[in-house]
Amino acid sequence: MAIDLFDDPIWQMSLGERAAIEGLLSAVRPALAIEVGTAEGACLRRIAMHSGEVHSFDLITPSIPDLPANVRLHTGDSHALLPEVLAGFAAEGRNVDFALVDGDHSADGVRRDVEALLASPAVGDTVIVLHDTGNEVVRTGLDAVPYGAYPKVAHVDLDFVPGHLGRDRFPGELWYGLGLVVVAADRPAYGSGPAVQTDRHHGGELLAIARDVLGGREPGIGPRGYDGRDRRLADAYRRIDELERRLGDGALGA
Ligand SMILES: C[S@@+](CC[C@H](N)C(=O)[O-])C[C@H]1O[C@@H](n2cnc3c(N)ncnc32)[C@H](O)[C@@H]1O
Repeated sequence: MAIDLFDDPIWQMSLGERAAIEGLLSAVRPALAIEVGTAEGACLRRIAMHSGEVHSFDLITPSIPDLPANVRLHTGDSHALLPEVLAGFAAEGRNVDFALVDGDHSADGVRRDVEALLASPAVGDTVIVLHDTGNEVVRTGLDAVPYGAYPKVAHVDLDFVPGHLGRDRFPGELWYGLGLVVVAADRPAYGSGPAVQTDRHHGGELLAIARDVLGGREPGIGPRGYDGRDRRLADAYRRIDELERRLGDGALGA
């Protein structure tokens, strides 16, 4: 049985991530959706298939054959354009039902995109999906978002679909991973415990530790710059302790 969802060669997501996004879109059936990071429009096509109207942002105008009629492309920096477009939706009393953040992959850039969404009154009943949450740079930005400052944020799981450690492709690098932020203004998180999931290990950090330990045994997938096996292991143990401490403090994303 062929599943066209898995056949697309230009969709820059793992098959598990595609299935998760497809499942969310089928459940949400967005009237209004946003994508930050259009690229070649692969994920955009799936979002458009399930949505009434999609607004997709990229620095460059993509060339997308047979662009679905319900798509509106915005060319430019999302940090300037996204707040403007969201302000327009808010002024019209519209709600964004689904958003994918997959544009600027710098720590500061991804943080700003997520904060622009969370700050908008148009994001009140919204499923937000974040890509590359397994990457250390992206994750640094996402961990810096003050989710707790937005009472409408009901649930945050940055390892909704865990990322992976590259081996043949991007050896030693951490990529992929989907995060999920559920915004539900009618179900504020106040009084119902922390919205950010701290009941499990941070997938990306565990993979980074595994990479550094593995690097002692398998040339080519370890980090550069370490000069001895013992030092690598000592550093891995130090980082495990640090991760435990942060989880214990509830400090992640607080
Ligand atoms: C990983 S690709 C997106 C992949 C796409 N969502 C998919 O699933 O096929 C990231 C895209 O974000 C765009 N981008 C990077 N920084 C941006 C910014 N500040 N504003 C808008 N787009 C940006 C890049 O040009 C690139 O096309």
